[in-house]
Amino acid sequence: MSALHDQKILLCVCGGIAAYKAAELVRRMIQAGAQVQVAMTASAGHFVSATTFQALSGRPVRTTLWDDAAEAAMGHIELARWPDRILVAPASANTIAKLAHGLADDLVSTLCLATDAPLAVAPAMNQQMWSHPATRANIDVLRGRGVLLLGPGVGDQACGETGAGRLLEPDEIVAALAQRAA
Ligand SMILES: Cc1cc2nc3c(=O)[nH]c(=O)nc-3n(C[C@H](O)[C@H](O)[C@H](O)COP(=O)(O)O)c2cc1C
Repeated sequence: MSALHDQKILLCVCGGIAAYKAAELVRRMIQAGAQVQVAMTASAGHFVSATTFQALSGRPVRTTLWDDAAEAAMGHIELARWPDRILVAPASANTIAKLAHGLADDLVSTLCLATDAPLAVAPAMNQQMWSHPATRANIDVLRGRGVLLLGPGVGDQACGETGAGRLLEPDEIVAALAQRAA
């Protein structure tokens, strides 16, 4: 049995090309026995639809903090208390910066600040964004805070460049989470 069996994982999806891989990631985590709840940034919705994640996870997807029905009972706090682990994948440079600085100006950053669940971050971005001193500093802050960094991988990028910044493959992310949970 996978170490992820019965683990409650809140998957936060950010806006980047690799968001499509998050759909496969949900499938793999569910296959490993995890309960998966998806929250998306507004930008993520430009790349992949909430309907896809809802169908794969079997749960309604949260896409905004400003959801009157969900927030009637402070749904974001309830959701922030729910998971055994939060996984941000793909993690954009923007959301990584927000997490490093403790911003809470959207659903995903608010959930990550309002939780005591351990945080794992799988970055995915253009190699120049990844190597920018601002991103390097933000990653150092997260590492220093004990955030589990998964990747990024190195190789060809959707933008035509080559370098570090590829999202790890869903299997690699699931294996790394399972190793942590074991
Ligand atoms: C076509 C396209 C692809 C993008 N790919 C990425 C990416 O892979 N990684 C990244 O960090 N930002 C990427 N961006 C920029 C982000 O979408 C942008 O910084 C956005 O504000 C991120 O918002 P979020 O962190 O709330 O999801 C891309 C933008 C566009 C238009």
